Amino acid sequence: MADIDSPIHHGSHERAKFRAMTEGTQEDWSLISSEYMAFARDLPDRVLAHLKLLDGDFGGFPVDRLQHSLQTATRAHRDGRDEAYVVMALLHDIGDTLGTYNHPEVAASIIKPFVSEEIHWICQNHGAFQGHYYFHYVGMDRNIRERFRGNPYFDACAEFCEKYDQAAFDPDYQSEPLEFFEPMLRRVMARPINSMYAKLAEAE
Ligand SMILES: [Fe+2]
Ligand SMILES: [Fe+2]
Repeated sequence: MADIDSPIHHGSHERAKFRAMTEGTQEDWSLISSEYMAFARDLPDRVLAHLKLLDGDFGGFPVDRLQHSLQTATRAHRDGRDEAYVVMALLHDIGDTLGTYNHPEVAASIIKPFVSEEIHWICQNHGAFQGHYYFHYVGMDRNIRERFRGNPYFDACAEFCEKYDQAAFDPDYQSEPLEFFEPMLRRVMARPINSMYAKLAEAE
C-alpha cells in the first residue's frame, strides 16, 4: 500500500476566540470561513491521496484496486462518458479502505456535492448491481439488484457495472494513468452544485 502524501494543510496560525459556539462572533466566523475556503480548495488533493491507498491492494483480484479504478474510468472515458461520470468511475471504489462493509456509500458521499442525482445513484448502488456477476459464487443472491427494479436509474447502474466496472479486471488493458484524470477531478470538484455548505466554499 502506498504512503499517503500529506494532503492536509493546516492553514494560518490565527484562531477563533470562542470556547463554545454560543460565544462565537462575526470576527471568529469570518476567520473560520476563509480557512474553510482554502481547505475546500484542497479537497481534490486529499481525494487523490486517498485513492492512492488502493495501490498494491489486490485482495485476490487479478489487478489491484487502483488499477481497477483507473481501468473503470478509462473504459468509461473511451466510451464517451462526460467528466462527472468518469470521475465517478474513478472514485467508485475509494471507500474500500474505510467502508469495507459499505464502500459504495463512501464514494457516493464524496461525489454527491458535484454530480447529478443519477451519477450519485449509480455510485451509491453499484455494489448490489456488481453482485450480479459474483454473488452466486459467495453464497449470496445475484439478483439482489432486483429490489431496485422500477427505479429510474436501474438501467444506468446496470450499464455502468456491465460495461465498465465488472469489465475492469484485465491486467493487459492499457489504462490511462492517474495523472490523466487529475485535471478532470479538479474541474468536477471545483464547484459544489448540491451541498448545504456550498455558500461557504464560494470564491471570495
Ligand atoms: Fe465497488
Ligand atoms: Fe469496482
